[in-house]
Amino acid sequence: LEARSAIYFATCRAGAQAALKAEVAALRPAWRPAFARPGFVSWKLPAEAGPETHLDAILAHSQGLALARGEIAGVVDLAGVALDRLAAASRPPRLHCRARTVNPNPDAPNPLDAVARELEAELRAAHGFAAGAAAAAGDLVLDVVATDAGAVVLGFHRHGPGHSPHPGGRPPLVLPGDAPSRAWIKFEEALAWHPRPMNPGERVVEIGSAPGGTARAVCDRGAEIWCVDPAAVVPMAGLRHLRKPAAAVARAELPEAFDWLLIDINDNPGATLRLARRFIPWSARRPSLVLTLKTADWKVVGEWPAIRRQLAGLGYPQPFARQLFHGRREVVVLA
Ligand SMILES: C[S@@+](CC[C@H](N)C(=O)[O-])C[C@H]1O[C@@H](n2cnc3c(N)ncnc32)[C@H](O)[C@@H]1O
Repeated sequence: LEARSAIYFATCRAGAQAALKAEVAALRPAWRPAFARPGFVSWKLPAEAGPETHLDAILAHSQGLALARGEIAGVVDLAGVALDRLAAASRPPRLHCRARTVNPNPDAPNPLDAVARELEAELRAAHGFAAGAAAAAGDLVLDVVATDAGAVVLGFHRHGPGHSPHPGGRPPLVLPGDAPSRAWIKFEEALAWHPRPMNPGERVVEIGSAPGGTARAVCDRGAEIWCVDPAAVVPMAGLRHLRKPAAAVARAELPEAFDWLLIDINDNPGATLRLARRFIPWSARRPSLVLTLKTADWKVVGEWPAIRRQLAGLGYPQPFARQLFHGRREVVVLA
């Protein structure tokens, strides 16, 4: 018999938990918020549910059913009990240990990360788990969240679409020392969520390119990029720079057909969506989209159903939005 539970949990960027509760209240009105900490929210469900349960929540970095909450000192025994309940699985489960986030800034050090690493070493020494952290479709994952220096929540989920393969939704990316900006890491994380890869030889238009972290990731893939930004962009092979605001760009300055439209401007979501509406029809084929929507107050999460309808009207029936692990107060839209 498959393991079930009536408690669900999600991790998010510290500071986003109230907005995540509001998002889930709209998605699942019958779920009642329960134990929460910065970067961690749980809910009481109206009935027990199985590992296929999933929330299409923009703000959730990782999620699953919760099985137990306890002290870190007893984690090996807690995990033993949890693994017995998951025993229906024919292969050893995947182990995902992570800390809740403690800072709204993804670059700030998190003292709980060391706690999560120790938990992982201890649990791997005591129990059998699949080798490696990245989950594959269908894997049953034992979730372990260090919620405080001495406390832990255990849970589980079945890996599938909408779940990050990585513990806590944190891809193992390291910003290269010579990347022009940390936009490189955000863009790599975003592309990993995109339904299609960026291929060599593809043509990319980016609005808001300076100083060029995203352009570096694009050029490293062997794609060509047209950067639109009044500020300086680091020169690189495969890059053309239109040094002006988007409003001053004429259609003839861009290729007749481009495969990707990226927008990453420091302006409000309305400005980004207006630029998307203007530039998408300029390409002879419908470009794939990566749009960054800045949202200091997370309001854009509540506006997502309306934004999704707008994108459907532009020919993107299934857009996807996520607050990235490496993102700040912004949501990335992929279509
Ligand atoms: C967050 S930064 C972009 C980071 C960049 N994607 C990277 O990879 O390094 C925002 C940029 O948007 C540019 N920007 C803001 N409004 C713009 C507009 N209307 N047209 C073009 N660029 C704009 C700013 O000049 C600024 O360089």
